Amino acid sequence: MKLKQIVCGALIAIGYLTNPASAQIKIGVAEALTGNAAQYGVPIRKGFELAVGEINASGGVNGSKIELVIEDEQGKKEEGINVFKKLIFQDKVLMLFGPTLSNSAQASNPVAQGAKIVVFGTSNTADGITSIGNYVFRNSVTEADIVPVTLKVATQKTGVKKVAVLYGNDDIFTKSGYDNFKKALEALKIPVTTTETFAKGDVDFKPQLTKIKASNADAIVMSALVAEGAPAMVQARQLGITLPFIGGNGMNSPKVFDLAKDNSDNLWVGSPWSIENPAAENKRFIGAYQKAHGALPDQFAAQAYDAIYIVAQALKKTKLTGRLEADRTALRNALPATQYNGATGPFKFRQVNDKDGKPAGYDAVQTAIVMMTKGSHYVIQK
Ligand code: ALA
Repeated sequence: MKLKQIVCGALIAIGYLTNPASAQIKIGVAEALTGNAAQYGVPIRKGFELAVGEINASGGVNGSKIELVIEDEQGKKEEGINVFKKLIFQDKVLMLFGPTLSNSAQASNPVAQGAKIVVFGTSNTADGITSIGNYVFRNSVTEADIVPVTLKVATQKTGVKKVAVLYGNDDIFTKSGYDNFKKALEALKIPVTTTETFAKGDVDFKPQLTKIKASNADAIVMSALVAEGAPAMVQARQLGITLPFIGGNGMNSPKVFDLAKDNSDNLWVGSPWSIENPAAENKRFIGAYQKAHGALPDQFAAQAYDAIYIVAQALKKTKLTGRLEADRTALRNALPATQYNGATGPFKFRQVNDKDGKPAGYDAVQTAIVMMTKGSHYVIQK
């Protein structure tokens, strides 16, 4: 039995070494492809597929083609854990992308860390995700990095003096967004007139919005996913509240326009990516995405697309042996120094600490662009 394992391992290793062109680099994708979080997960999948298609069409990475093994984690913690286990232990992928929501990442990423396999988030932005361990990476810029910039630009441009706060208090991402807004408001010495909460799945926000209206705020700071955030905007306008909304990453999706329609104006968000960014790398991405998918990309697609190229850069410097554990660790070791200039602009990693102050995973270093919605577009605010 032992001998058989050794022979099998050796044959796989020889497969990589002697005939790399036939070897596939299997990468696991665990994203929310159904349910509310699919608003983000579906464009993420399309971004991955576009980049992989391009890389494979131009010969792959060091002669090997990338194969994506895609699973639907449904935006649910339990499913996140289940599909992570399947991809790691049954499909034996080299690394994982996902999951879509921070809420799922907090539950599923320890499985990847325990198995010593890279887990790379392209959309989770809550505090603490990369603190889970040194195999956890993301190129999605955190609420901690983006929220203060968005708040500063939005309040300066609109002359806002005091704000009301509305946030989801049962989700890791929306809570983290709230924590970061609170900190940034304190730093800017902007008083809060009232703080209101909601829960995932809520559909009626009028009680909270009525209190906000009575509080005489100049703007509403909202930490929400789009499924709740868009109806909250609609109901605010129905109550005659015309105030600006200042949001986090969850509100940076064109799904806001589908869901809130004519009520989607005057929403402020920040991100390293904008459809209006005229950089050549971004224009090329937007054109290729449109051709492949017949629709314009969003920030979630752009981050997923760049993430594949970041990993491809690291893979180019990684000598794969066919020994899965060694290869997983070799890729992990190649990633931190990887830099890339793609659709989302110049990118590099920065290491974060775990809760005991020891070096852990890696967050993104990128520059935020602040945008405001107008006529169903995110318009850059300089
Ligand atoms: N940025 C959102 C999250 O972290 C999608 O859950």
